[in-house]
Amino acid sequence: MEKADVAFCTLIFQAVEHISNILGPLLIVEFILFFLFIGLTLEKAFMSTHRIILGIETSCDETAAAVTSGGHTILSSVVWSQVATHHPYGGVVPELASRKHMEKIVPVVEKALADSGTDSNSIDGVAVTCGPGLVGALLVGLSFAKAFAYARGLPLTGVNHLHGHIAAVYLEPDPPPFPFVALLTSGGHTNLCYVAGPMKFEHMGQTRDDAAGEAFDKVAKILGLGYPGGMVIDQLSQQGDPDRIRFPRAFLDKTGFDFSFSGLKTAVARYIQGEKEGTLRIPDIAAGFQEAVVDVLVQKGISAAKAKSCQHLALVGGVASNRRLRERIKESAQEAGIAVHMPGPELCTDNAAMIAAMGYHQLRKRKNSSQPESAAGERWRTVLDLDAYSKTSHSGRLGVVR
Ligand code: KG4
Ligand code: ZN
Repeated sequence: MEKADVAFCTLIFQAVEHISNILGPLLIVEFILFFLFIGLTLEKAFMSTHRIILGIETSCDETAAAVTSGGHTILSSVVWSQVATHHPYGGVVPELASRKHMEKIVPVVEKALADSGTDSNSIDGVAVTCGPGLVGALLVGLSFAKAFAYARGLPLTGVNHLHGHIAAVYLEPDPPPFPFVALLTSGGHTNLCYVAGPMKFEHMGQTRDDAAGEAFDKVAKILGLGYPGGMVIDQLSQQGDPDRIRFPRAFLDKTGFDFSFSGLKTAVARYIQGEKEGTLRIPDIAAGFQEAVVDVLVQKGISAAKAKSCQHLALVGGVASNRRLRERIKESAQEAGIAVHMPGPELCTDNAAMIAAMGYHQLRKRKNSSQPESAAGERWRTVLDLDAYSKTSHSGRLGVVR
């Protein structure tokens, strides 16, 4: 029994006691039976409604499906990466991504169901990423999820991909208590957010240009390290000296919570142009670049938590799997008396378990999409609603809304 149920039962018995003083013993039996019936029905409804969620994620270059229980336990999580498809092009090709999602969505969902030990009859609800992301890629997941839910008469909810990334910490064995500050750093976004409840997100800051992961990918490309760049730079940096080349740390002197990474990428390009061939120490460049990104992320993340008097900071999104970032933020948070929560690397990069975790809360509240509850969260709007119809204005980049 969960805390809410215990509180509910206590309330019922207090009410019965109160009524017994007024109405006398005869009516008590009837009242007890009545309340017991209501209590059991509500408990059954609560325990059985939307406990097992099928999550689907196709916003970029991973076809993913997962089954979670109670919004906190992963029963299965399958991620089919398209890296091999996009690698020769040095980045994600949207049309190829959509086609690969179409090819893989059925087997990936089938595997997620099989791995979870459940079948489609056990699913209580479906959660699907409805944006932001590549429109064609999102449409594949959305269309599949709508058909799956419709055919089985299941409730369906559309999850904002960014909310999903934050919900990855809800799946941790020791999730942060509310409120906490989330530093979301991925290939498409770098955001700071105050999280007051499972669905209460307040925007604090974001990148004004490139996302941190985007900077990793672009610098990797400049260094000829291929796509995707984050992981390669992470590995290569271990052989480099992070202090030999000092690249700029943008916005570090500013008190606000916005970021900027495009100047850093240009600084790396200029540095390479200025050096003689043969003298370049790629691991040192990689380590120097990584250190600049990490410095900014760590300092901004910690000051955002302090500004909100939060003792808990969550680090989420693909870049959150970076070893140096994890190490440095842990150290700094410890010094500041802040507990830092980092999901395992497989829950930092795109996956569908985080979408199911967020979807669980939405379905319990009967919300059919993860529109933010506060006006400050307006920037978190998604591209597509469940009718797959574009309703928001674009930020300038095709198919991506920040
Ligand atoms: O969250 P994610 O999987 O997809 C988006 O929502 O964008 O993040 C992908 C990004 C890519 O830019 C990738 O290079 C970066 O996360 N990334 C890393 C690492 N692993 C993935 N960046 C730095 N270090 C890593 N170990
Ligand atoms: Zn993502």
